[in-house]
Amino acid sequence: MKVLVTGAAGFIGSHVCEALLKRGDTVLGVDCINDYYDVKQKENNLLILKHENFSFSHSDICDKNAMEQCFADFAPDAVIHLAARAGVRPSLSEPELYYQVNVLGTLCLLECARTHKVMRFIFGSSSSVYGSRDGGKFSEADRVDTPISPYAATKKAGEELCHVYHQLHGMHVTCLRFFTVYGPRGRPDMAPFKFTKAILDGEPIIRYGDGSTARDYTYVGDIVQGVLASLDADLPYEILNLGNDSPVTLNTFIATIERATGKKAIINEEPMQQGDVPYTCADISKAKKLLNYAPTTGLEDGLRAFVEWYQQH
Ligand SMILES: NC(=O)c1ccc[n+]([C@@H]2O[C@H](COP(=O)([O-])OP(=O)(O)OC[C@H]3O[C@@H](n4cnc5c(N)ncnc54)[C@H](O)[C@@H]3O)[C@@H](O)[C@H]2O)c1
Repeated sequence: MKVLVTGAAGFIGSHVCEALLKRGDTVLGVDCINDYYDVKQKENNLLILKHENFSFSHSDICDKNAMEQCFADFAPDAVIHLAARAGVRPSLSEPELYYQVNVLGTLCLLECARTHKVMRFIFGSSSSVYGSRDGGKFSEADRVDTPISPYAATKKAGEELCHVYHQLHGMHVTCLRFFTVYGPRGRPDMAPFKFTKAILDGEPIIRYGDGSTARDYTYVGDIVQGVLASLDADLPYEILNLGNDSPVTLNTFIATIERATGKKAIINEEPMQQGDVPYTCADISKAKKLLNYAPTTGLEDGLRAFVEWYQQH
């Protein structure tokens, strides 16, 4: 299959491209390689993707002409759309930028897919659409009308645009709500990277709140399996959680990194930050049923793999 993957130089995108190439698909990666975090990390990700079936377009998903060219030249069978402004906290200070990339960029790709008759579209959404909750499992059937960050609102808007293209044009679209993804090549702005770096450097880590907040951390290898399974399933229109169904408190998370690094953390406590949700937990029964999705990597093993990668780079 010929698959156009946006955000190919990023964390999840590079893993998805690698897995597609490994199983014999042909991939066009699209990424503007922005400087939200060290571009060297993205360039290194692209080096891993060197393959006769991989080509790359250094372009912006908001650039209609560039996207038209990509679709015309590559003629993809499917799109996996992972490019985005991905951090929650910076979305509070740059809401317009998040709207531009995450909403208008998504619309640009959906329009290109429609005009080039690409009927298979996977959209990387987020658990953040569920808003602020303090318990229970997050189900795709739940109402998601109360996002608490511009980032979350743009992901919800992206899902809605996807539904429009399914409804009006019969496009097959699956929106995947990822739950806190971590693993090798992880983003430097996320807790696994920041905490590992600080602990190994003997620097204090900032823990927002008392450590009782909890998240459903999901290993990137499990996410990739879910993304590929959703591509193959080619479902007419679905929203699916890809999580781990196993929330871990921040304190447990820090203790697990301490074991993986063999060093104690110095903890500085600060108040919870605006936009951050206190708790996430994916109900993954729908993804299990429709995709056979079954995460296999626990936090201990996953963080050990992350720390190993971190130390090598
Ligand atoms: N990592 C997580 O925990 C997580 C959780 C939920 C949802 N997601 C979603 O998964 C997707 C991938 O996230 P990630 O963690 O790999 O982030 P990432 O920042 O590593 O990857 C995103 C990539 O998109 C590229 N990009 C950004 N704007 C672009 C534009 N205008 N044109 C072209 N490329 C552009 C960036 O350069 C980057 O390489 C995103 O859509 C994100 O919102 C991630």
